[in-house]
Amino acid sequence: MLNTELDETLKNKKKYNQFFTNKYISQKMSESIKFLDDQIDTIKILDPGSGFGNLGIEAINYIYLNFTKIKKIEIDLYEIDSILIGRLKANFVKLQKRMKINSIILDFNIYNEDFLLSDSSTMYDLIIMNPPYKKINQKTCYSLKLKEVGVNTVNTYTSFIKKALINLDKNGIAIFITPRSFMNGKYHIKFREWLFSKFCLNKIVWFKSRSLFDGVLQEVVISVFQKKIQSDFINLEYIDDETLNETSLRVNQQLVIDKDNMVRFFSNNIDIYTYQKERNLKRIEELGINVSTGPVVYFRQSKNYLRKKNTLNAYPYIFSEHVGNGMVTNWPKKNPKRYNYLLKKDDNKKVFRKNDAYVLVKRVTSKEDSKRIYASILSKFDKYDMVALDNSINFFYFKNPNVNKINILKGLCVYLNSSFVDNIFRQFSGNTQVNIYDLKVLRYPTLKQLSNMSSGFNRSQSEIDLCVKKYLED
Ligand SMILES: C[S@@+](CC[C@H](N)C(=O)[O-])C[C@H]1O[C@@H](n2cnc3c(N)ncnc32)[C@H](O)[C@@H]1O
Repeated sequence: MLNTELDETLKNKKKYNQFFTNKYISQKMSESIKFLDDQIDTIKILDPGSGFGNLGIEAINYIYLNFTKIKKIEIDLYEIDSILIGRLKANFVKLQKRMKINSIILDFNIYNEDFLLSDSSTMYDLIIMNPPYKKINQKTCYSLKLKEVGVNTVNTYTSFIKKALINLDKNGIAIFITPRSFMNGKYHIKFREWLFSKFCLNKIVWFKSRSLFDGVLQEVVISVFQKKIQSDFINLEYIDDETLNETSLRVNQQLVIDKDNMVRFFSNNIDIYTYQKERNLKRIEELGINVSTGPVVYFRQSKNYLRKKNTLNAYPYIFSEHVGNGMVTNWPKKNPKRYNYLLKKDDNKKVFRKNDAYVLVKRVTSKEDSKRIYASILSKFDKYDMVALDNSINFFYFKNPNVNKINILKGLCVYLNSSFVDNIFRQFSGNTQVNIYDLKVLRYPTLKQLSNMSSGFNRSQSEIDLCVKKYLED
């Protein structure tokens, strides 16, 4: 048996982001080696950030079992943590012996160094990796060094992808397990532009649960790229990792790879139908509505200005805790976790907004929440001329303040709280955060449709969904 269990040698777990891939996921990843020509007799593999070699080992097992003409396998393993090298080497010595018995030469090279700064011109037929994830501070010498070698990005995992793909041979296959976030959102736009202009996205596999790796909260996905022009169809596979039930779809690439090269995940034909319906709706700017993040950062406010109860000169201060229990903003709260009021003074008066009706959306939900978008309406106050909106919320407002808008905003609230929007949101984002960029990517019904949808205001989820369905048909 190959020795790949965890033990106390993991002193650098946090420093180097060490999360090891289990057998099930390693096998799932290795299945995509089928996209390579199985008649080849030699193959060159790269496993960067190899840990104990779990992925390389499973890939070699797959090749041994499925490539009937294979004679020679070469693998390069990069691992920065010298504590792991002994066991990594022992695993490959064992595997080498097993391959030899089966008349296959296995050559392995272990490089105990930083993969991102490594200097190699070897081209690979197969890359398989589970890289470390960590933000790259753009003000460090390290980021400068990465820039010099052309692999600087916002996170180590996208730098690993870039560095590895540069050395992928024509028609070669690269299989990654990484956070999903590079597939959407504005932080990775440049990276995606580079990625999708040079490589073909072949397949995506994603999972029901977020806990594939202990301590990793982000949604992780398997993605498979090939060095060739983008094919017309992309394979999408969704796995319920509790029941191990798998569903797969082959979807036209134009549906999967959207504007800004954002990748959409569909788990069934209803998702595709919903998406096609949503694409015919309007962009938020076309409605004369804007969306921004609340301008007040509460820890930048003087403690003396923050109030739970009303006092002289205090103005409503709305946090995400006031949003989303029903469609009416629950303010002031009897016992708020944070505050209900902010004093307006000379040094903070710029962060206040005009008293008006707004639709508020929580910026952060928890992974246990049943929906991603929670919206509620903030009506115009009678006795205040200003309000403070915290940056834990996003808010929608009319660019033209004179529009008669209350029904439209109520309808917008209904629409945002619908299962239709939840489905669309999950197609393009695996995050629990809801950013302005996401709300701008989303499409919206016309003002008339929104106004009609106000009839679903503050109703049950099923009534909201029926109302949205009805008026989207109009
Ligand atoms: C998420 S773990 C995955 C390990 C292994 N590939 C697996 O799937 O079981 C990432 C590995 O990359 C290593 N690592 C982190 N930064 C590295 C770097 N800059 N160069 C090479 N290896 C690195 C860590 O020590 C760790 O073993």
